[in-house]
Amino acid sequence: RAGLAELVDSMLRTVPDFPEPGVQFRDIMPLLADAAAFARVVTALAGHPHGPVDLVAGMEARGFLLAAPVAVALGAGVVPVRKAGKLPGQVASQSYALEYGSASVEIQPSTVPAGARVLVIDDVLATGGTAAATIELLESCGATVVGLSFLVELGALDGRALLPGRDVDVLLTLP
Ligand code: PRP
Ligand code: MG
Repeated sequence: RAGLAELVDSMLRTVPDFPEPGVQFRDIMPLLADAAAFARVVTALAGHPHGPVDLVAGMEARGFLLAAPVAVALGAGVVPVRKAGKLPGQVASQSYALEYGSASVEIQPSTVPAGARVLVIDDVLATGGTAAATIELLESCGATVVGLSFLVELGALDGRALLPGRDVDVLLTLP
């Protein structure tokens, strides 16, 4: 893992005032477009010790890009955690607070067997709302969340406060 945080830091692009004035957007796309960097971060996300993993859950949309290769690396299946209204059939929904208002995420419980050991993957841990809602959904299916891994944590937003007692792995913490 030597140099991994520096690698992620050097390949992130910070875009001021996107998507709204005052927001510093952390863009992971340059990192994903670099074959060597992408392989290194996928290996790192898959390498954190969690014991056996049956499923990797990735949050729409950027989490999908990381969860799928991590799942293949672990020999696990992948479960998409989608924004409301995108998944067909029976779904479980969980809402969470945004700065203004709320949003909700959904999964298909039929794809998450009771007792499944699930690793949760996303690009950025900000307020933690998305991750906490994802845990609620997975646990409502009887799954065990064995860990959560993120490329980047925005330390000032203290997303970990919404994830008490969880095994949270991040490759880079930004202030
Ligand atoms: C971003 C990011 C995380 C989430 C983190 O996703 O990719 O999924 O916000 O925020 P939180 O910790 O405050 O919940 P966003 O909803 O911007 O959409 P995208 O992944 O579809 O680009
Ligand atoms: Mg996202």
